[in-house]
Amino acid sequence: MQRRNLLILGGAAAAVGLGKAALSSINTAPAPNLNDSSRAIAPANRNPLLLRFVATADSGSSNENQAAVAAAMTRYYQRSPYKLAVLAGDNIYDNGDIGKVNSAFERPYQTLLKNGVIFRACLGNHDIRSVNGDPQVQYPGFNMPGRYYTFRDKAVQFFVLDTNVNVDWSVQQPWLEKELSRSNATWKIVYGHHPIYSSGVYGNTQGFIENLSPLFKKYGVQLYINGHEHSYERTRPINGTTYLITGNGGAYLRPVGRSPWTEYSVSRYGFTAFEVFRDRIKIQAIATDHQVFDQGIIPLKTA
Ligand SMILES: [Fe+2]
Repeated sequence: MQRRNLLILGGAAAAVGLGKAALSSINTAPAPNLNDSSRAIAPANRNPLLLRFVATADSGSSNENQAAVAAAMTRYYQRSPYKLAVLAGDNIYDNGDIGKVNSAFERPYQTLLKNGVIFRACLGNHDIRSVNGDPQVQYPGFNMPGRYYTFRDKAVQFFVLDTNVNVDWSVQQPWLEKELSRSNATWKIVYGHHPIYSSGVYGNTQGFIENLSPLFKKYGVQLYINGHEHSYERTRPINGTTYLITGNGGAYLRPVGRSPWTEYSVSRYGFTAFEVFRDRIKIQAIATDHQVFDQGIIPLKTA
């Protein structure tokens, strides 16, 4: 009982930090329900939580595996409230049919949506099979201003890519470089559907290693999040960037191996939670049985 109280209290106190750092471009969500005891604790915290968010990918299977992951995301929310969920592609199987958005999105995450959690999607390879994904871009629940876009919560800026094969990189790449170069955010996080470094079925994407990773290094991107591989993998920093695969969100699992730069990899259903502080990002991979099966820290590098 005591432990449970502590967990709830900790979650509520952290929510104060989350509220202070309300997503600047996401202003429709109601603030988490705070109580007086949480307000009393917050001022003593000298390293407050700036942002808590979760990420899932390869989720839109409308099956019991997605439901189990969604239930774990919901239980995590109830203990540790968050306002943002990254949806890293393959949002609706098999063919990105927006007609299935209820079973692939609205129903599994209904409690989160009801509580005002904002999902921000990118397009996966399955998503562009119907009208090139345009209906998903226009679907309000995915909060996509375009096929690629950026949004910011004070110290944290996200850069969302369309990594599909039909993308015109002669447009998207300069856009990314321009946005990265003019960002003064402490934390820069990029996400897209496809892997860059991966020990899964598809492996590394050489073109992205050659063309995207150098931008990440040049502009100090600390984290890249993706799916496509139906597994989980976290790398140690590669030229300053941690590569995090969380394609364990609902579609059938595939095997994953290890590479010299792998910190942890496993083929197991779950989602990933991130807590951003001024000096670090704490990463937790959480399974459908609510167990934390991987945990890591990205420390802020002060040049
Ligand atoms: Fe995919």
